[in-house]
Amino acid sequence: MYNVKKLLSLILMLSITILIVACNNTTEMIDDQSYDDDNNLIVVGFSQPGAESAWRVALTDSVKEAFTEEKGYKLIYKDGQSKQDNQIRDIRTFIQQGVDYIILSPIVETGWDTVLEEAKEADIPVIICDRDVMVSNEALYTAFVGSNFAAEGKKAITYMENKYKPDAEGNLPRVNIVHIQGTMGSSAQIGRSKALEKGLEEHENWKVVAEGSGDFTKAKAKEIMKNALQQVHSSEIDVIYCENDEEALGAIAALDEAGIPHGDGTGITIISFDATTSALKLCMEGKISLVVECNPLQGNYLYNMISLLEEGEAAPKLTYVDEGQFTKDDLTEEFIDERKY
Ligand code: AHR
Repeated sequence: MYNVKKLLSLILMLSITILIVACNNTTEMIDDQSYDDDNNLIVVGFSQPGAESAWRVALTDSVKEAFTEEKGYKLIYKDGQSKQDNQIRDIRTFIQQGVDYIILSPIVETGWDTVLEEAKEADIPVIICDRDVMVSNEALYTAFVGSNFAAEGKKAITYMENKYKPDAEGNLPRVNIVHIQGTMGSSAQIGRSKALEKGLEEHENWKVVAEGSGDFTKAKAKEIMKNALQQVHSSEIDVIYCENDEEALGAIAALDEAGIPHGDGTGITIISFDATTSALKLCMEGKISLVVECNPLQGNYLYNMISLLEEGEAAPKLTYVDEGQFTKDDLTEEFIDERKY
């Protein structure tokens, strides 16, 4: 009797073990099945440098909205946490995963040759978006979709030239500038800074009185502005040239904390780039004098580009997104409310 019991419990244990193994196999099969389903979708790996600004969050949302499963795409999104090394690692992961396309928004312009060569060897087209790359061979990427940062900077400089004209006797006004730069080495910073540098060369009365990188963030820009106010008296500042809206918000926070008036009717003109809702509101209130638009709604441009490639057509190598500029006179509450970012 005892042996029969023992035999029965042995059979029971064996059955449970077989069941567990079978279940595990089923799980694998289900995974394989969903992988097969994914294979019917066009897989796009999207490498973002980070989430440092409202602008960048808008870019991420725009790309996610463009590449949906309903439209036949699977988007793999990676955030590089503001580090180029992380972005390079993310691209290598995309290559290993065998994605169909890679979209890269590069944190800085240089240092991409090797990983782009690896993508080329794996036959994966890479589309550079938002910011540009400087590579030894432009054939390393398929196309660029993004902003013309030099043109954006030029808009700011033209505004300054019109605002600070010589008087009737030809006397040049003083134009002392606090320059808050973006992430050093990014094409957004390079294009906007170069435009200002050219303006400085062409206008002997323009002078940078304080400068530093706010890394496109509000917190760092606030620190730069606070330091600037320790070096220069506020009455010696005419223009604060902020290379994005977050930085303008940071500079304004530092001025407000120090009780320094700024904007219309004061001696301090603030210039910013991006045209996010919060900056446009401040522009409408006269606190920011000019906002140059940098358009993050690039998802559809990228979608159209990849659709062309899917049809076997050649994609244009360079596509700039539409961008404008805003002063108080261009803005209404309705207009700002309707904007997507
Ligand atoms: O590359 C575009 C810039 O990057 C935007 O001006 C800024 O807000 C973002 O972080």
